[in-house]
This record gives sequence, C-alpha cells and structure tokens, in this order.
Amino acid sequence: MSKTLVIYYSRKGNNYVNGSIKNLKKGNTEIVAEYIAEAVGADLFEVDTVKPYSADYMTCTEEAKDELRKNARPELKVYLDSVDQYDNIVIAGPCWWGTYPCAVFTQLEKLDFSGKNVFPVMTHEGSGLAGSAQALKKYCKGAVVGNGLAVHGADVVSSKNAVEKWVKSNLK
Ligand SMILES: Cc1cc2nc3c(=O)[nH]c(=O)nc-3n(C[C@H](O)[C@H](O)[C@H](O)COP(=O)(O)O)c2cc1C
Repeated sequence: MSKTLVIYYSRKGNNYVNGSIKNLKKGNTEIVAEYIAEAVGADLFEVDTVKPYSADYMTCTEEAKDELRKNARPELKVYLDSVDQYDNIVIAGPCWWGTYPCAVFTQLEKLDFSGKNVFPVMTHEGSGLAGSAQALKKYCKGAVVGNGLAVHGADVVSSKNAVEKWVKSNLK
C-alpha cells in the first residue's frame, strides 16, 4: 500500500476572509492538511519557523514580500531529513504573493524527491494554485508533479468532500 506525507505551512493570526480581517486560531491550510491526512491516512509534517511571521496581516505581507525579493530561506524549528518511506508527498501552503512562503522552500531544498509523486495544494484568496506547480518542479528535484488542489480560504471548513474527492482521483 502506498504511503503519503503532507508537508504544510499554515499561519495562525489575522487573515483576510472574504474581504475582511478575521483572527484564525487554526490556519486555513492546516485544516485542509488534516482533511487530506484523514482521507488517506497520511502523516503530517508542519513547517514552523524559528522567527514567527507577524500575526498582523499587513506586516506579514511586507515580511513575505521582502523574503521573496531576497529569495530568503528562513530557519525552521525542526527539519524533516528524508521522505524515503513515502510514495506521495503533498506540499500544502497558503498562496503568498503567488507562491509558497519561503519557509516551505527551506524545507523542500533539504530533501531528495527522486522517484516520488508530489502534489501542490494551496489555500488562497483568489489566486488559486498560482505558481505552486512551477515551484514544486523547481524545488522537488527528481519528483513527478501531479494535479493540484486549490481551496479558497473561506471555503476550507466545508471543503472536506472536495478534498476527499481530489485525494481519491489523484494520489497514487
Ligand atoms: C503574506 C501573504 C500574502 C498573500 N498573498 C496572496 C496572493 O498572492 N494571492 C491570494 O489569493 N491570496 C494571498 N494571501 C491570502 C492567503 O493565501 C490565504 O488567506 C490563505 O488561505 C492563508 O492560509 P493559512 O491560514 O494556512 O496561512 C496572502 C496572505 C498573506 C498573509
């Protein structure tokens, strides 16, 4: 039987939900990551930075823009050493300026994805999957990039069925 890992980043704190700022106790992507894990019995790995991104939305957008400009690799609290035991690896994150937060790249660059199937998952406020597949082609060396799943931030809680459907039709 194939084994699946979900590597995800998700930010708690203030976020735009349908045009207004809400304080989220659990990030949108974390909810989707848990639905995927439930649907397929996957393991979860959370990307968590040593220096947290600001809980304030506007400050965080500036931090993220600055990191992208510098192509930064923020330090993580814990690193995953290997994905050898997995067949499918789902990379889930919020869309930040059209791609994953740089902290996700910090982790991806440390792994060998040869022969693995990787799948982009993004939660977003309108950009859909944006540049997620291109990013995985660049940073998951040796992997085959499969069909992705985009979930609008405001719909994450009610996305369980859509997530299950995507899992069943795409994961190998
Ligand atoms: C720094 C930052 C940049 C963002 N950039 C985009 C964007 O380019 N396109 C988009 O649709 N949503 C953007 N968003 C909204 C998030 O992608 C969306 O709220 C997401 O569901 C948050 O997931 P999380 O709660 O797991 O962190 C941005 C949010 C932040 C904080």
